[in-house]
Amino acid sequence: MKLALLGIGTVGTGVYEMLCASPAFEVSRVLVREGKADAPYKCTDIRTITEDSEISVVAELMGGIEPAFSYLSAAIKAGKHAVTANKALVAEKGIELARLARENGVSFLFSAACGGGVPFLHNLALAAEGDEIVSLSGILNGTTNFMLDRMQRMGMDYAEALREAQQRGYAEADPSADVSGLDALRKLMLSCAVAYDKLPAEGFCREGIESFTAADVAHIQSLGLCCRLIVRGGMVGEKLYAFVEPVLFPATESECCVLENYNMAKYVGKNAGPMVFIGQGAGRYPTASAVVRDICSVGSAREMLREGCEKVSADNSVCFERYYVHLPKAFGNRFRSEQLWDEGETLRLISGKLSVQEMHAIANEIREKGGSIFFAAMGE
Ligand code: HSE
Repeated sequence: MKLALLGIGTVGTGVYEMLCASPAFEVSRVLVREGKADAPYKCTDIRTITEDSEISVVAELMGGIEPAFSYLSAAIKAGKHAVTANKALVAEKGIELARLARENGVSFLFSAACGGGVPFLHNLALAAEGDEIVSLSGILNGTTNFMLDRMQRMGMDYAEALREAQQRGYAEADPSADVSGLDALRKLMLSCAVAYDKLPAEGFCREGIESFTAADVAHIQSLGLCCRLIVRGGMVGEKLYAFVEPVLFPATESECCVLENYNMAKYVGKNAGPMVFIGQGAGRYPTASAVVRDICSVGSAREMLREGCEKVSADNSVCFERYYVHLPKAFGNRFRSEQLWDEGETLRLISGKLSVQEMHAIANEIREKGGSIFFAAMGE
């Protein structure tokens, strides 16, 4: 099989090495930036690839929306199967690319865009075909899982943990996408689109780990709890909920055993029951392995974004949680608390049940008024 890669960064290099190690593949072309074509197989003009009739698959590994979208569209129109690891691109333009792929009779696959090496989306797509997906949840960001693990198991501070995650090649080029929960949210968007034919393009709630401190670690550990960044999605009637937030679990729960850069992606099938996928969610070779799996499946894989898949608004007023909250005392009256720790200027509390939407709105309001807040759902 002859193929082309668009981009040769962290994941692209892994894919290139894996493909070169197998006689079944020939990487004919690698598209690089202007001035960087320092070998005969490297090119800078997408037409070198689209006009080569022997190339049957194009794998986009450059990141960003443009020119990735234009290049992949051109490749699909030229009859090439398209594979990408680019979650921002699929979240924004995936429905359009899937339609283009259908019109041109080629595959559009993006397993590596969700869960690194974890074979989640591919299996979710199969399950969605024959079963009803009751819910989606899990840990979908390797960087923050690595940081939370380092902070809670090894006492590392936030900045040091982030630095190490970056050095290991887990973080996005702009790591604020990881720590703010945006990367996990994009993966949840893709999972909802695959499971429900609905891509939550607005109305979602997102909270990352930016306000989690060593003092929070000490307090939750004294309660026997452990923090993970969790995504949740599903349907309540006709309403799609989709949110990302820190969750505190009893330290013996399976989520707390997900260490380092690992992810844990779950779906509950009406007939299959809970299905859990665990593996490395970030890093060059785990992610490259998912790209190569997609390359091996072009032409035969089930469509990931089916016809009729549409962008919708999520509604998180249908989900209710109890929350652990650390906030300035002046805002304590925003919550009905079941447990309270008075720390002078600040309070820690466990709230009664409130909707996910309400909790995120209160946190936004407190921040707009200059207060700082950490909150996490009680995983029960
Ligand atoms: N920055 C991402 C993560 C890479 O940490 O999960 C894999 O998608």
